[in-house]
Formats: sequence, structure tokens, C-alpha cells
Amino acid sequence: MKLKITMVAVLFTIASLGYAQKVNVKKSMQSAMAQSDVLISKVDSARKIKPDQVSPRTVENGKFKMVSSRDWTSGFFPAQLWFYYQFTKDEKWLWLAKKYTEDIKKEQFNKTTHDLGFMIYCPFGNGFKLTQDTVYKSVVVQAAKSLSSRFNAKAGVIKSWDHNGDKWKYAVIIDNMMNLELLFEATKFTRDSSFYKIAVTHANNTIKNHFRPDFSSYHVVDYDTVSGNVRNKVTAQGYAKESAWSRGQAWGLYGYTLCYRYTKNPVYLEQADAIANYILNSKITPADGIPYWDYNDPAIPDAPRDASAAAITASALYELMDYSKDKKRYKMAADKILSSLSTNSYTNAIGENYGFILAHSTGHRTANSEVDVPINYADYYYIEALLRSKR
Ligand code: GLY
Repeated sequence: MKLKITMVAVLFTIASLGYAQKVNVKKSMQSAMAQSDVLISKVDSARKIKPDQVSPRTVENGKFKMVSSRDWTSGFFPAQLWFYYQFTKDEKWLWLAKKYTEDIKKEQFNKTTHDLGFMIYCPFGNGFKLTQDTVYKSVVVQAAKSLSSRFNAKAGVIKSWDHNGDKWKYAVIIDNMMNLELLFEATKFTRDSSFYKIAVTHANNTIKNHFRPDFSSYHVVDYDTVSGNVRNKVTAQGYAKESAWSRGQAWGLYGYTLCYRYTKNPVYLEQADAIANYILNSKITPADGIPYWDYNDPAIPDAPRDASAAAITASALYELMDYSKDKKRYKMAADKILSSLSTNSYTNAIGENYGFILAHSTGHRTANSEVDVPINYADYYYIEALLRSKR
């Protein structure tokens, strides 16, 4: 698979593109499920050797990488299986989704991470929607309690990272917007408004402190929990402090879209629209709509892309188009991204890359880790986008 980038392509903006070739959702889902059959067989073989490594994450240097339930990406694989059950209603996927979801359950009590939205909400939230199993609901509620323990009332935000205490005191990353879905759902389940209050306080302070005037976002904001003030704004995974890390922009877009879903507060819709504008007005994203890993990497057009940022963006736009005046534009952009991801420039052939669906994601470029590789969250949001495109 060869990714071709031409300078001509670079001159287009996504917003200026015509209608994308329509993706055949049924066919793409069937290929994805066939590819996931391969992945499941690799997972089962790997687990026989190391049983505590429960979920597939990526392929790096040609090697299949599994992770334990503590990894921030552990929930995407079972959550993807729930999507297959949603699409097919086939008992095979129900059984598999249930089986692999169980492995992540103990993380509901994990108070050392903010990533419980990804780890717990994706598999257990999807599982609950499809089965109404009250155990799944209780796992979501317990995870919301664990996540809430990381909220600091003075700073008004949920702490993201405990590590690297020499670099920051109370690090909050834009990715954290994704965890708010867990809190909003727990509010619905319990009618306990404390989860809701934490979610909106976090979202409001993130609007205040994480965004630049052009609505691109900083990756990391460090807070002082005594005064409640911002100490510093930096990056961990982006190219530079003032650059726009592509996946961060996608997390922000998705995050404010979901905040609007639950609150109907127009401020969140405005924020989501503004982030969408930043993404779609980019003059440097190539014509296929798949962004470079960072909008400001001077190596562009030779910089790696990030298919995961594209998949998250497409999925978010399919929801945002239902709320926004820009429906047509968002639909066109999401269709374009989905259509590009569904071609063999990005979709692995069946059996290739250990059964991961998409190639060309970038995890952590500055650490030279997971660059131009398949990654579980790219696959998860791609499948979600496919399903959302059908509605
Ligand atoms: N949430 C971590 C990442 O997007 O890489």
C-alpha cells in the first residue's frame, strides 16, 4: 500500500471539494468484520502466551502489540465488536463482544487514569445500549465515580496525568473531553447531578483555557490547584507548544459535539462548529481529507498522516451535522474522509497487518512511537463513522 501525496493535492482544502464517492457501508462493514476475524485469531494466540495482555493495540516494526486492561486503548477492541453486533444482530458478535468486554471490567475502579471514558464507556456503554444488561450500567456508574475522584474544584477540571511531575503539576489534556460522555451517561443512569456538574465545569474551563483565537487547541494545560490558575500551556504529543496536533483537534471536535448532545447548551455547539471550521478550512490537509499528524509540522508534505484523527473527525461530523446549520458541508467532509479511508490507500487488505482495518495512523510522533501504523482507536472510530453515515 502506497500513500501518494502530490503538491497539487496539498493546495486543496477539504471544504472546497466536491461530493465524495459514496461508501458502500454494507460492503465496508463486511470487509471490516472479515478483517476482525483475523485480528481475533491473532489476539487469541497472543493471549495463550501472555494472558494478562488482553487487547490488540497496534503493529510496530512489524510486531503485533497487545496491551493489558490498564492501557488507555484497552476498551476499543471489545467496543468495536459491539458495533458489529449492532450492525448484524448476529449472536456470534454478541458472544465475542461480551467475552472481551469482561477483561476490562476491573478498570472501573482505576483512579490513576482519566481515560475511563475510552476504557470503560466505549465497551460497557455500547454493551448497555445493546443489551440493557444492568451489570454494564453499574460498571459505567462506578467508572464515573472513579473518574470524578480526579476532579479538582479549585481548578475546575479533571486531572489527566499523574506522570511527569517534573514537567507539570496538574496536567489536563484536550483528549480529556472524550471522558465526559461517561459522566453524562452516569448522570442519566443515577440522576446524580454531581457527574453532570463536573462534566460541564470541565468543558467550560477547557473552552476558557485550552483554545487559541483560531480555535486550534493546546495539547496540555497545567493548572495550579491552590490558586486555580493556569501555570503553563504545552504539548506532549504535538510538534510544538504552539502547534495544532491533529488528533487533539479531533478529540476537541468530538468532545464538544457530545457536550451539546447532552446539555443543548449553544456555547458547546458554537465551540464544535468553530473547531470544525479550523479542521475543514485547513489549507494544508491533502485533498483526500486525511490530515498530517500535526498541522504545523515543517516536514509537510513529507510528514506522516494520522488516519485516526480523520476517523474521529468523520464520526464527530456525522453527529454535529444533525445539530448545526452547516449540515451539508459537514456531511460532505465526513463522506469524503470516510470514502478516502475506505480505499486501499488506507484500508488494509484482508489478512494484512494482523487484522487491523486501517493503516497510516500516528500515535506519538515526537517520541518516534507508533508512527504510520495501524491503531485500534482508528479502527473503532472508523466503524462508528460508517454506522453513523448510514443513519
Ligand atoms: N489519548 C491519547 C492519544 O490520543 O494519543
